[in-house]
Amino acid sequence: RTVYVNGAYVPEEEATISVFDRGFLFADGVYEVTTVLSGKLIDFGPHMKRLARSLGELDMPSPASEEELLTIHRGLVTRNGLNEGLIYMQVTRGAADRDFMFPPKDTAPSLVLFTQAMVLRDKPAARTGIRIASVPDLRWARRDIKTVQLLYPSMAKMEAKSRGADDAWLVEDGIVTEGSSNNAHIVTADGTLITRDLSHSILHGITRAAVLKLAADDGVKVEERSFTLEEAKNASEAFVTSASTFVMPVVEIDGQPVGTGTPGPIARRLREIYLAEAD
Ligand code: PDD
Repeated sequence: RTVYVNGAYVPEEEATISVFDRGFLFADGVYEVTTVLSGKLIDFGPHMKRLARSLGELDMPSPASEEELLTIHRGLVTRNGLNEGLIYMQVTRGAADRDFMFPPKDTAPSLVLFTQAMVLRDKPAARTGIRIASVPDLRWARRDIKTVQLLYPSMAKMEAKSRGADDAWLVEDGIVTEGSSNNAHIVTADGTLITRDLSHSILHGITRAAVLKLAADDGVKVEERSFTLEEAKNASEAFVTSASTFVMPVVEIDGQPVGTGTPGPIARRLREIYLAEAD
């Protein structure tokens, strides 16, 4: 596999990053994960807009223009013959002597990209749905910035797995914030799609935005507001959205079936419309 590191396409075995890189030492970095379907990038513009916002919030310089980043994304798709999968892009504040203070502004940011070939469209879990375990949301309070500090989401997924579930939903004061690496949504008995409103508490998902628009265009009533874990357990349907899962039905929360305990009609329809749109 060819990866991209600071200006060069190299075989993954030859790629190097400094041990002083602040991404490595302080998790001082941000990232984006963009989907490739049939060799095409999905929602590239919105992902780059969010990257620019993450960089801005952390006062981190951008390593390249959006046009250059597009060229690199395409360069990796071509070099690796990627038909379906993900492109991971990470920007860190670069290498500097270890110090909590940010290094001088002219420190070069590090830019790393790699591809992951994966079956996304025909994931078996999309047919069966996934089981969720709730865990307390112990992340920092700026989840709208897509930083590489992913230890807690990683621990949350391990906790969910140890409880026999597939993924975790993070809960704060009884309210669902989001999934460990996706946005959480429920559907009420009258067919209204409920999803947490945007704030610093959740990542502003690109798939979330796309799906909400498709839902509204399809005549689904959408309400952006907080919902409790209790409300989710008693909902007619639940699902998550992300670049890697699109729309993924949730069939169980903390061992309790959601609705009929099978993928709901609205979640299935939204997945179908989303994938049709992506073609
Ligand atoms: N995760 N919320 C969190 C905490 C996330 O990490 C993600 C994405 C999302 C969904 O965002 P989007 O629709 O833009 O992918 C929501 C990526 C896929 C990851 O970390 O692998």
